[in-house]
Amino acid sequence: MTSIRPLPELLINQIAAGEVIERPASALKELLENSLDAGASDISVMLEAGGVKLMRIRDNGRGIAKDELAYALMRHATSKIASLDDLQSVASMGFRGEALASMAAVAQLTLTSRTADAPHAHQITAIDGQLSAPAPASHAVGTTVEIRELYFNTPARRKFLRTEATEYAYCEEAFKRIALSRPDVAFSLQHNGRTIWQLAAGQDELKRVTQFLGADFGDAAVAVSRHTANLSLDGFAALPAYSKSSRDAQYFFVNGRFVRDKVASHALRLAYQDILHHQRHPAYAIFLTMPPAAVDVNVHPAKSEVRFRESQAIHQFIFHTVQQALAIPAQGATSAPSTPSVTATQHNFNLAQNNAAYQIWEMQKHAGQSEVASGKWESNTAITTTDISISRVTPSTDHTTDEHPLGYALAQLLGIYILAQNQQGLIVVDMHAAHERIVYEKLKTSLDAEHVATQPLLIPVSFYADALDIATVEASQEALQMLGFDIAPLSPTTLAVRAMPVMLKQSEAEHIAREVIAELREFGASRVLTERRNELLSTLACHGAVRANRILNVTEMNALLREMEQTERSGQCNHGRPTWFQLSLNDLDKMFMRGQ
Ligand SMILES: Nc1ncnc2c1ncn2[C@@H]1O[C@H](COP(=O)(O)OP(=O)(O)OP(=O)(O)O)[C@@H](O)[C@H]1O
Ligand SMILES: [Mg+2]
Repeated sequence: MTSIRPLPELLINQIAAGEVIERPASALKELLENSLDAGASDISVMLEAGGVKLMRIRDNGRGIAKDELAYALMRHATSKIASLDDLQSVASMGFRGEALASMAAVAQLTLTSRTADAPHAHQITAIDGQLSAPAPASHAVGTTVEIRELYFNTPARRKFLRTEATEYAYCEEAFKRIALSRPDVAFSLQHNGRTIWQLAAGQDELKRVTQFLGADFGDAAVAVSRHTANLSLDGFAALPAYSKSSRDAQYFFVNGRFVRDKVASHALRLAYQDILHHQRHPAYAIFLTMPPAAVDVNVHPAKSEVRFRESQAIHQFIFHTVQQALAIPAQGATSAPSTPSVTATQHNFNLAQNNAAYQIWEMQKHAGQSEVASGKWESNTAITTTDISISRVTPSTDHTTDEHPLGYALAQLLGIYILAQNQQGLIVVDMHAAHERIVYEKLKTSLDAEHVATQPLLIPVSFYADALDIATVEASQEALQMLGFDIAPLSPTTLAVRAMPVMLKQSEAEHIAREVIAELREFGASRVLTERRNELLSTLACHGAVRANRILNVTEMNALLREMEQTERSGQCNHGRPTWFQLSLNDLDKMFMRGQ
């Protein structure tokens, strides 16, 4: 054992570099953040060999004074905070005062900078932690940092670097994350002499986002925008049709900083839960803005994590905002770019229609229509009438939109699809999937309102049950009633369904009752009505929805289209698959090579 002694400064910095500068991309991120903190409006990046050989970042920010150049490379020296109070409400990207010192310890670093009041620039270099004296240099107001041969003096670390192409890919991703968050700033990226990105300053956010995430993302995205006194959420979230098999299109920013945050990703996942297939991942670029004091950014050396002071409130805020943005009914929920998007007024109008239509539908149900499936279609025809009377009272102001975005039914195809015609061309609807979503949404709404319309069965349906089933039913009477069921023991081995929700099919009474009892038995009434609720309703909706091969007439098909237009999330079935798509006239013309 040797005695305890302080480590040399260079080694301290090399140890710190292990945490902060994991690879070239982490150095690039730190340097870009420094340029933004310096107020730059134009930042250019030049890389060679994936950033390992050379990385040069030039900005037009406020620069560093000659006398402070050495401080910039010194550990724990920063211009960004001076006290604990400052740390607790830090608004800059950097604050630890260690990024440049770490880089200077593991690479050959040259810092050239000029402030507005200096007659010319100065330059210092650091090799193995040894700083040169500042020497005059030529540079416009701003700063250039050049880093050569990353990890040249820490070979163990250098060995861990991957191929040039991989390191470059990481660098490009770091560049993207920063550039996405600041569409007001011009950025360029060159690799091995080739210009890869050239982004003008002052772009609107959507343009910047689609440049990186692609036009497909832009077409499939809905705007997310909600502002309260202290919190803002902005950005774009793609509708489920544009989901991904990995998480690589998920960009979440807190006060301009890209972070991977569990609270936020959980809230976002939840916002998509109902509409996304469980093996798919949503795509989004979302920006949360909040007072710096309400979030701790000093959690991780690379600042890739944050801690919210009120994480529950943030979770709610993100979840509700994104869920609402995604819930736009069929008119907006389209991947077809030609379909006009829904304005907020239209959206509210649709919701109002939906509520009114729903009430009329409920009243008709109570008036007693015996055959559930046909009852549904008749009452849907009533909904169309309601639409007309409401639109007279509150006329839609947007004359550019088609009156019925999903158009008018033409025919049923092979008992599975509905073909309809709208202004743009052909609409194809998966009949069962679409109706399943409608029933599901209605079940949710009516359960929320604590009023699931129930239908007594003329002849109760009885079936064999074991002792645990019977005990479950006896113990769960209240929950069953809330769900719209009347199920009671007839004998020690028999249960009878005496009433069930009108939205479901009487012909499947036994099957449905068994599903409900099995859930209650496994999870207990309170969990079935809370965390398991949507799962159960989704299963029930499948039993309520019109089956393939049921022949629908044109009136029935139109009624389904109208209901889709009024139902939130109707663009996806309960399992996240699309329920309809548009083939425009243009698409059809292309197929037939017309006009070519
Ligand atoms: N591009 C730049 N333009 C102007 N000043 C800069 C630039 N880069 C660094 N500086 C100055 O050098 C200081 C040290 O930078 P460094 O990145 O090491 O630390 P920091 O940004 O303060 O904190 P952190 O370690 O969290 O990034 C900064 O506080 C800033 O004053
Ligand atoms: Mg910094």
